[in-house]
Amino acid sequence: MNDYRIASIPGDGIGVDVTAEARKALDRAGELHGFGLEWTEFDWSCERYLATGSMMPEDGIERLRPFDGILLGAVGFPGVPDHVSLWGLLIPIRRAFRQYVNLRPVRLLPGTKSVLAGREADELEMVIVRENTEGEYSQIGGRHNPGQPGEFALQESIFTRVGVERIIRFAFELAKTRTGRVTSATKSNGIIHTMPFWDEVFAEVAAEYPDVHSEQAHIDALAARMVQHPDRLDVVVGSNLFGDILSDLAAAVTGGLGMAPSGNVNPPGEFPSMFEAVHGSAPDIAGQGIANPVAQILAAAMMLDHLGEKQAAAAVHTAVEQVLAAGEVATPDLGGKSTTAELGAAITAALA
Ligand code: NAD
Ligand code: IPM
Ligand code: MN
Repeated sequence: MNDYRIASIPGDGIGVDVTAEARKALDRAGELHGFGLEWTEFDWSCERYLATGSMMPEDGIERLRPFDGILLGAVGFPGVPDHVSLWGLLIPIRRAFRQYVNLRPVRLLPGTKSVLAGREADELEMVIVRENTEGEYSQIGGRHNPGQPGEFALQESIFTRVGVERIIRFAFELAKTRTGRVTSATKSNGIIHTMPFWDEVFAEVAAEYPDVHSEQAHIDALAARMVQHPDRLDVVVGSNLFGDILSDLAAAVTGGLGMAPSGNVNPPGEFPSMFEAVHGSAPDIAGQGIANPVAQILAAAMMLDHLGEKQAAAAVHTAVEQVLAAGEVATPDLGGKSTTAELGAAITAALA
């Protein structure tokens, strides 16, 4: 029997509630499919920051290194500036463990509410492949002339050849296993250094994949297309910031933020990968017990898949689909009145 060591970082707000449900679903999947999960929980969060002055201990990264996988809730809550909490926990983990692929699959599932009501459940399936360790998310820059009329802030972006090439190649390899289409998000009409470089590398890599249909689209027009003609998209590859924005949009067109999972993946597997929902800590509904746990449960299923437990991962998906299709247990974002715990329990029960 395989046993996996998993680090759980529930974090802030609804991250705590949805992670609890994902853990229960995974434990049950392990019982049914013959593997064990050994959980270690870390209380790294804004609460910890307010008590101690740091989001995680100084050796936090070292502590995570031996784990087979990391399940993260959400980071960030009013009371701690977002750039402090996120650069104190989530972003350092992505970087230290070279989780350069942020994989964000979305699918319109039966029984879900989408801004595109009227589409059939099997009509929409896309995956956002987001560059996750460089691009617009950089510490280079600064604030100048504080308080003076000439005050300004400068923020640099970094696009390395290695970084751009490997994420684009990942998207093409993924497309080969799907419908064979890759769309690159660009903005080379307005951003004159990094984006033309991104396009050039995209064209070079695309030339190596003659069987994969490739195209590039300006991020603004692509956003509109994602709403009006999402069925014409499959694998969408974008920089760190563009991929971030497109993933919330893709989630919205396929049933909402409560439905969209995400994996921060280190493809060679030399470091642990980290799985989380696309959404954040949702301070507006935190503490009410009504957050939709599906995104986090599907993220946990992505972790199982990553660990090689393909059958168990598929079973979690099926359980989610069954419960959503039945429509009897649904959180408010899905138009129901159930709690996070009720929906989580229904999914875990459906596994059996
Ligand atoms: P958010 O995703 O937390 O919330 C946006 C909206 O979606 C809110 O109205 C919220 O109630 C709703 N929503 C989100 N998840 C839901 C769920 N599971 N069920 C039902 N409704 C849900 O985005 P935000 O408000 O911009 O961010 C809040 C905090 O979370 C900020 O501190 C932000 O930096 C942080 N954040 C963290 C992560 C992460 O840790 N991966 C991701 C995104 C945002
Ligand atoms: C996400 C989040 C983070 C990001 C924030 C909270 C830094 O929005 O995981 O999508 O932009 O990567
Ligand atoms: Mn985001």
